[in-house]
Order: sequence, then C-alpha cells, then structure tokens
Amino acid sequence: MENNTIQSVLQEHRTFKPSAEFSQNSRFPDPASIEALYKHASTDHTGFWAELANTQINWHKPFTKTLDDTQAPYYEWFNDGELNVSYNCLDRHLETQGDKTAIIFEGEQGDTQHISYRTLYERVCQFANGLKDLGVVSGDRVVLYMPMIPEAVVAMQACARIGAIHSVVFGGFSAESLRDRIEDADAKIVITADGGHRGGKVVPLKEATDKALSMGCDCIEHSIVFTRTKHDINMQSGRDILWDDVIKDKATTCEPTWVNSEHPLFLLYTSGSTGKPKGIQHSSGGYLLGAITTMQWVFDIQDKDIFWCTADVGWITGHTYVAYGPLACGSTMLMFEGAPTVPDAGRFWKMCEAHKVTIFYTAPTAIRALMKLGDDFPKKYDLSSLRLLGTVGEPINPEAWMWYHTVIGQEKCPIVDTWWQTETGAHMLAPMPSQTSAKPGSCTRALPGIDAIVVDEAGNEITTADQGGYLVVRKPWPSMLRNIWGDAERYNETYWAKFDGKYYLAGDSARKDSDGYFWIMGRIDDVLNVSGHRLGTMEVESALVAHERVAEAAVVGSPHDIKGESIFAYVVLKGDRPSAEDADAITQTLRTWVGEQIGAIAKPDNIRFADNLPKTRSGKIMRRLLRTIAKGDEITSDTSTLENESILLQLQGKE
Ligand code: WT7
Repeated sequence: MENNTIQSVLQEHRTFKPSAEFSQNSRFPDPASIEALYKHASTDHTGFWAELANTQINWHKPFTKTLDDTQAPYYEWFNDGELNVSYNCLDRHLETQGDKTAIIFEGEQGDTQHISYRTLYERVCQFANGLKDLGVVSGDRVVLYMPMIPEAVVAMQACARIGAIHSVVFGGFSAESLRDRIEDADAKIVITADGGHRGGKVVPLKEATDKALSMGCDCIEHSIVFTRTKHDINMQSGRDILWDDVIKDKATTCEPTWVNSEHPLFLLYTSGSTGKPKGIQHSSGGYLLGAITTMQWVFDIQDKDIFWCTADVGWITGHTYVAYGPLACGSTMLMFEGAPTVPDAGRFWKMCEAHKVTIFYTAPTAIRALMKLGDDFPKKYDLSSLRLLGTVGEPINPEAWMWYHTVIGQEKCPIVDTWWQTETGAHMLAPMPSQTSAKPGSCTRALPGIDAIVVDEAGNEITTADQGGYLVVRKPWPSMLRNIWGDAERYNETYWAKFDGKYYLAGDSARKDSDGYFWIMGRIDDVLNVSGHRLGTMEVESALVAHERVAEAAVVGSPHDIKGESIFAYVVLKGDRPSAEDADAITQTLRTWVGEQIGAIAKPDNIRFADNLPKTRSGKIMRRLLRTIAKGDEITSDTSTLENESILLQLQGKE
C-alpha cells in the first residue's frame, strides 16, 4: 500500500436517474443552469458566494468584503455586513405570506397544531421581549433543553432575534452532560419544559435540569419552563419561571437586533469519540446562506412543498433543516415530537399521508430499523405525495437504499444522500436531484462552491479512482464553523494542523470513483488494518447487510498477533437472535458470504449476534465501545449517552 491509502473492496454499480417528471418540475429543470453554477463557483469562488449572499439574504447593512482570510484558519465571511437571522426567517415573509403555515406540529400522542408565519412571528417576538426583560442581551448564551415542540424553534428564533447565542442540548442527554455544556458556555438562562413525550414515556426534563443546576452551573440566573406534559415539577422561586409568565403581557412585535455577519448565532456541542465536548461555533450570515442554498439545491424546496426533516433540534440537522433553513425559505415544515415506532412502525408513513409530505429527510439508522419491521406498515399508507427523499448521518448501505427507493419512494423519488457535519453547517457533498444520477451508498458530488478532495497522508490529491484517503476541503465556505467555543487552539489542532492549515480535515475517509462520485468509507479513526491492508469499516458492514438475514451490522478491528487487526462483527438479524447452535451455522454462512462479496481478506474472524447495536441518541454506532468489547476489556467509559445501555451485556456475550 503506497502512502498509507485505504483500499476499496466493495463496489456498487447501479445508477438511478431522476425521472423526467421530477426534473421538469424542479427548480433546476435545465442542466445548463446547474453547470453554470458550478462554473461560476470554480472560476470565482468568492464572487459566487457574494452573489448568493446578496440575492438570498436581506441585509440591514450590505457587506463590502466577501471573505477575510487574514487570520486564517479563523476565516470570516461578509464581515462588515449586518443582518438578523430571525428577520430573514420571519419578517421578510409576512407581507406576502403571513397566513401560510410555517409549522405543522404533531405530538407523540397525536395532538396537532398549524402555526402560520404571522403567529410564529408574534410568538417569537413575545418570547424575545420576555428574554430581554430578564436581562438577556446580545452575545449572552442561552441553553435550551427541550422536547421536539414548536416552542424549541420559538426559543431559538427569539435568541437569534436579540443576538443571544443559543446552545441546544439534546433532551436525551443526562443531567451531567447538561451541566458540562451549561458551564462551558457560561450560560445565563436555561430553557426547558416539564417534560416531553418520547417512546410512550414522559422524559422528565425539568427534573434533569434541577439536577444539573444542583451540581454547579453558578452562571445560570433563571430557568424558563414550558408546560408540556403537565406532571408535577418543582419550581424554585426566584430562579424558575414558567414560559407563560415570561410572555405574559409582552408585545407581539420586537425590533430585531442587527448583528454583524460574524456574530455567533449558536454553539452546538459535539461529543467526538474522545475528550471533552467541543462547542462548535457558527456565524450568522454565512451559516444562514448555507442553510438557504442547500434547501434550494439539494431539497429543491418550492412554495407548495411540505418539508419534513425528522431530526431533533438537539442536532445540527435539526438546526439547519428544522429551525432555520425551511423558515428562511418561507416553506411549510412538519415537526414531530415522538419516536418513529409509537404507536407502531407505521407512524412516519401515517404522518406522511396525513400531512401530505412532499420531501422527507431522515437517517439510515431509522430507515434500517423500519425496514426490519417489514413492508406491511408503509404499504398501509398512501405515500404518493412524496417527491424527494433524503438521508444523513452515516453512509446508507445499498440494501437500505433500495428499500427506501422502492417501498417508500415507490421508485419515483430521487434520494439525496447528504454528507456533512456539525462543523460544516450545511450539506457539502450531495446531489442536485434534478440532474445527478444516484448510486446507492454514494453522496455523489461536492456542491457548487465546495472544494472537497481526497488526499493521501502527505496531503497530495489522490487522482486514482477508488483509492481511499482523507476527505478534506480546500477552500473556506460560508457556513463553516468559526471556532471551538473558548478553545481556539483546539480548533486549529483538530481541523487544520494535520495539513498545515492548507485544508479543512473532516476526519472521514473517502474515495472517489471513476465518475468522480464520493464514497464515504468511515471515520479515519475506525479504519481497519488487516494484514497490511487498510479497509474502511463501511464496506464490510455493507456486505454483511446485503445478506438477506441481516438487518444491521457494525465492524471493528481487534488487535491480532499476526494480522495486526482481526475483524470483529456485531450483527443484528432480521427476526430473533439465534440460539447458540444456530449462531455457529449463521456465522459460517456470513463469513463465506463476505468472502464472496469482498474477498477472503474481509471475512470477519468473529461474529457476535445481538438484538441491537450500541448507539448514541443521534443513531451513531459507538465503535469505541465495540472495540473495547472485542478486546474483551471491561467497559470503563461513560455510557450514559447510549440510547440502549442494556444492550451491552448481550454484546459482551454475557446474556
Ligand atoms: C459525521 C458527522 C451532518 C448531520 C448529522 C451528523 C457522518 C454524515 C453522512 C453521509 C456518510 C455521513 C460522517 C461525518 N456522515 N452524513 N451522508 N454519508 N457519512 O452530524 O454528528 O457532526 O457527524 O457523520 O462520518 O463526519 P455529526
């Protein structure tokens, strides 16, 4: 292996063209218009972004400088311009479409609300006025720890309106995680609810908030509590205030606070695989531009669409494609409080039918989980309103892709596989669905204005097709992160130092095929090293899932005297977990299968069966834990962010 590159061993050759009907009715029916975008971006990177910033954003004070790279890698975009993000999401739509529905909300228990742009604007203004009266000023940090309800969006928009920097902590995180994030952000206010409905249970958010505040958080002056589940909670007088009291008698208008384009809009903490969480800091103008352009390019958003992104506002996906992007584009979105399997695995499809969803965006982990539960659920519902499907969060294995395409999309919806990160703010590698043919498992090409390449260890671009390496971005882009909150050095170390500031390091391995399509091979830290061959985990997992009996698989390396690493696979079968005798037979079948699909080199040495895989609440497999288990070591790390802690015993073979 030259230059320590990563070998690709699994290739997918099917391609799917968008239908003529989809293309003709899209925002970009003409291939030439897309080519023109790419051409403009590649010949004049900053001019391209400047033109979009001028046409897509309402500036209070126009910018004169597009990109400031004097302090690189602390790049700045549009940095003498002034705007307000909430103004761009709400006020600018009021005159032409104040009565249009902004948010269709459905609670887990089936309660629904339709909120117009005007009503949303009024609620945001009232809450913004309430925050101001509590002493919140521009630049203050406000932490949100809320269920997936419209008030979460109201609170985020209200912060944006007065220049306060929000930091949303996912409602599934523990009190300890909440405390750490509040303290790192040095927040003045925490906004929560009594609870939320999730998975048929009440998530006791106020209780967790009380616990977090009792363990520190001296910076907090008030907690604001929205009443959702109506169960008994403690209210500490002086500190805790009900949401309804915050907005009581408040005006329904609130002059937006104009901020500099570089003013931080929000912080969002990512756990990463090691170390303390990083507060990823995003800007106002550049971030907003990324949200708008990708809504248009990748989701083809149009006036009549009903857009549904299933992500929680606790993740970047729920920021860009729930709280900001759809509103900035003046579209109608659906928001759902609950879990996809409550009351049964038909919930998503029932909601698509009921609300006539046209664009549906979810994670491969949800698709696989629902696929495992069978076709009868989706088949019960009329999914004909759907015109575009999307995925995000991890590579989608071709089997799940095909199911999504045939059973959900009924073979007429393009699927946009969108590669991006908390750090990138918006989609980076993704198709323009009216023209780009899809290949199951590939996120296709870099978007216009995104200069992504694959490089080897020395930083040289890999031009050989299908040779894997580091995925990097060569030029800054408007929606990129600006810093790690309070740790500028770590920002430089993590994202720029490896290639001397020349490239943004995404931390993923990837290859490009002979058509120039990108294939993500996994996180760099997860690459397997078997007998001197470096293999991405993704391809072995895909091969396993391609077997008819397998629902999900995760693969890790385990130290091996001779081979360097051996391949350890964790497999979830469709249906029940096999008995001990059956497990041996299936292990042999799967080993042979992977040998046929990929080659002997990739045959798993060990396979362990479980009912589920250890996942974070955002659906990411915790490979760090799986590596520990594969080695036979005891688990000593914190597992409280696991969605399903109880699965660990099974994976260890103890149950
Ligand atoms: C990491 C970023 C971006 C929103 C959700 C996750 C993986 C993300 C894809 C995709 C293959 C993907 C990457 C990336 N990832 N999308 N379409 N294909 N891998 O945000 O928690 O910041 O995670 O998710 O490994 O680096 P995040």
